[in-house]
Amino acid sequence: MQIELSGIEKAFKVYERPEGRWGLLRGAFTRSVRRVKALDGIGFSIGEGELVGYIGPNGAGKSTTVKVMSGILTPDAGECRILGRVPWRQRREHVAGIGVVFGQRSQLWWDVPVGDSFAVLKDIYVLPAADYRGRLAQLTERLGVDGLLKTPVRQLSLGQRMRCELVAALLHRPKLLFLDEPTIGLDAVSKLALREFLREENRQDGVTMVLTTHDMDDIEALCKRVMVIGHGRLLYDGRLSGLQDKYAPEVVRKVDTDRMIAAMYRDLELA
Ligand SMILES: Nc1ncnc2c1ncn2[C@@H]1O[C@H](COP(=O)(O)OP(=O)(O)O)[C@@H](O)[C@H]1O
Ligand SMILES: [Mg+2]
Repeated sequence: MQIELSGIEKAFKVYERPEGRWGLLRGAFTRSVRRVKALDGIGFSIGEGELVGYIGPNGAGKSTTVKVMSGILTPDAGECRILGRVPWRQRREHVAGIGVVFGQRSQLWWDVPVGDSFAVLKDIYVLPAADYRGRLAQLTERLGVDGLLKTPVRQLSLGQRMRCELVAALLHRPKLLFLDEPTIGLDAVSKLALREFLREENRQDGVTMVLTTHDMDDIEALCKRVMVIGHGRLLYDGRLSGLQDKYAPEVVRKVDTDRMIAAMYRDLELA
């Protein structure tokens, strides 16, 4: 297995101010601390070449899981091995083997031409010049961004930027790709292009992918296997068709509502 997680827990401290008119003032003295359990014993295994959808309502713990797998966050408990390494302990070796795309956060430098960001990544990953040039040409051509290398990131449309984020994430030929809401806010054409690219990358190069999304069309187009997370727990892990058989279409489609999660909890209690 390339990815193995078991019993992963992660809590965050959230500081809250008292409510009401004087809350701001009183808050200076009596901020209360609440613990939010983002991950409450998450475990799963993913094998080479799988393309797994990871869905659940807002605040369910999807991004936290991706951050743990990327080595950005250290969990409070549990085990995680990715390509045989513990991400937060062997961070340098770990990041050399993975690619990460966060739809809501750019890893490209805002004010400089996209091509300059790619060149910096070449140095970070210590890619030989010829490899880099070949890979860059291949990726930018396939994603249709080869004409944009001189354009500053801030001047790109969201769709163009996301395609450039993918180039950045794949330049060093990682075996694993984590995608956190890569299609959020994209127009229909860009979504289709992105899906097509991911499907090919998975089929041709065998890149293993974990994809979080709010868009069931992404899942339907790409993933046989889907994992559902709610309140920091894994509620379902299996074939997409199993989910479709079990729950009404409108429940499965609207993963951003709490209905499917509520139904799953009912099932769990009955079981
Ligand atoms: N840095 C943080 N500080 C405090 N709370 C956080 C932080 N990151 C995430 N959380 C909380 O943890 C829970 C899970 O968040 P997240 O993993 O971002 O969910 P998702 O990506 O599924 O929407 C939410 O309740 C969120 O508010
Ligand atoms: Mg998220």
